[in-house]
Amino acid sequence: MTDEEAEALYEAARSCSGRGAIVEIGSWTGKSTICLALGSRAGAGASVYAIDPHADYRFGDFKDNIVRAGVQDLVTPVSSLSQPYADEFHQPVELLWIDGAHEYDLVVEDFEKWTPKVLEGGIVALHDTSWTEGPRRVANERILRSRHFKDARFVVGSTTMARKVAENSGADRVKNLYVLALKETFASGSALLKKRRGLLPAPLERLGRRLVGWLQ
Ligand SMILES: C[S@@+](CC[C@H](N)C(=O)[O-])C[C@H]1O[C@@H](n2cnc3c(N)ncnc32)[C@H](O)[C@@H]1O
Repeated sequence: MTDEEAEALYEAARSCSGRGAIVEIGSWTGKSTICLALGSRAGAGASVYAIDPHADYRFGDFKDNIVRAGVQDLVTPVSSLSQPYADEFHQPVELLWIDGAHEYDLVVEDFEKWTPKVLEGGIVALHDTSWTEGPRRVANERILRSRHFKDARFVVGSTTMARKVAENSGADRVKNLYVLALKETFASGSALLKKRRGLLPAPLERLGRRLVGWLQ
């Protein structure tokens, strides 16, 4: 996860009004969980449900990191796969962060089971939408080409986020398609540059990343 993505998650969580929960699918050792929880703390203080099998040594690391960040009061770890757990979760969601399974069918299942719980005006954010086929296709098909999202944004390196609405406007759809084009250009451009020249010089890379922000 890039600094830009960490900051975007923090800001999204901070912007939540507290009308619904914050749900994270895929926690690993807790980096994104902490961004969400710190953002929530600075805002309305909504609970963060951190769904992951939380298997093996990683759950110990997760718990240690959450305690070290001082956010254990806001974080509820859920040791489960996200798809079956959706059937047991009956609260409204104001921010949904999807970063669990990355196979297309499973990302679709996450999207289909969890986005109906997201409130009107709530945020859906999806990780790995630049170079990873499953999340990339879901972001393109179900957010950026959808009639039910507005204020879409691409955050470098690979996050797509947008607000859920009952019906978006023509202007919203144009903006979403613009973000889609920007994301795909960034993804193919950066992959090509890496292949041709190895790592980009740091100042050039920084400029490219800033440009993506300025262009939205
Ligand atoms: C890329 S890591 C998450 C990284 C984390 N969001 C971060 O940025 O710090 C993916 C995580 O998803 C979890 N995962 C995989 N399939 C899942 C599923 N079906 N339901 C919930 N979590 C899943 C894995 O155990 C792994 O910890």
